[in-house]
Amino acid sequence: MDVKFINQTQRIVDLALKKYLNGHGRLYAAMRYSVFAGGKRFRPLLCLATARALGRANKRVVPFACAVEMLHTFTLIHDDLPAMDNADFRRGKPACHKAFGEDLAILAGDALNTLAFELIADDPMAVKVLSRALIHVVEGQVADIASANKKVSVKELYQIHHLKTAALLIACVEGAASILGASNKHIHHLKQYATHLGLAFQIADDILDVTASQADIGKPARADLKKGFPYLVGLDKAKELAQKERALAIKAVDKFGQQADILRQMAAYVVERKN
Ligand code: IPE
Ligand code: IPE
Ligand code: MG
Ligand code: MG
Ligand code: MG
Repeated sequence: MDVKFINQTQRIVDLALKKYLNGHGRLYAAMRYSVFAGGKRFRPLLCLATARALGRANKRVVPFACAVEMLHTFTLIHDDLPAMDNADFRRGKPACHKAFGEDLAILAGDALNTLAFELIADDPMAVKVLSRALIHVVEGQVADIASANKKVSVKELYQIHHLKTAALLIACVEGAASILGASNKHIHHLKQYATHLGLAFQIADDILDVTASQADIGKPARADLKKGFPYLVGLDKAKELAQKERALAIKAVDKFGQQADILRQMAAYVVERKN
């Protein structure tokens, strides 16, 4: 991927996140702990890459990108709780509930969820896009938990992955594009792109769950062994399906020209990533 773009984005976003999370006490300490634990910042990157694809400056998208990363971090904190995936590590560090206790982890998640919406409250469209996406994530998490006790079909697993992971990536491109006043046609193609990107992203996450070590992915490996695509269709077929989604993502932005190269690189990165 374009290293300069990644570094630049991470710098801009992290600087803004620091400003937004500059509160006192244990609550803010817990929020900062998880937000700055070393995530890839893939979703903020996607927001800013969308601005680039539209040939626009990224400044107006930064608060939205920060809101998305806060929401994503909130879902990770809650995903790791004992009542959910019961995972003790996240982003290479003890999970929030391990470092701060379950009570504060739940509340830090709640606070990140609320703060995220405060950041974008001036833009009703952004609020609408993100709130709808978060409802999808929650629906996906409910279905994901239920899937541990029954064998779901391939179609159902696609639906779960669409909800729990692709929905927020779709919101990244839709929100960023609508903040920048993009045309409906552009928004449509970007959403197609992000749908396939998100499916590729979660299939790759399922594959890494099986093939990578905790040291690589910064979270417990083999945590979703009986839930993901490798369990359902086998490792080779799962890899093939991820590649298929990658190709569909790239195809969706084929009318965008060179400005969308970062989006294309992100689709390739998703299936090749090691963490
Ligand atoms: C993990 O997301 C949760 C999934 C949707 C698979 P990431 O792989 O983007 O995690 P971070 O943000 O880099 O920690
Ligand atoms: C979680 O999926 C997606 C979220 C909405 C948090 P996973 O449970 O597979 O995510 P990881 O593997 O713990 O990051
Ligand atoms: Mg989970
Ligand atoms: Mg999990
Ligand atoms: Mg996983």
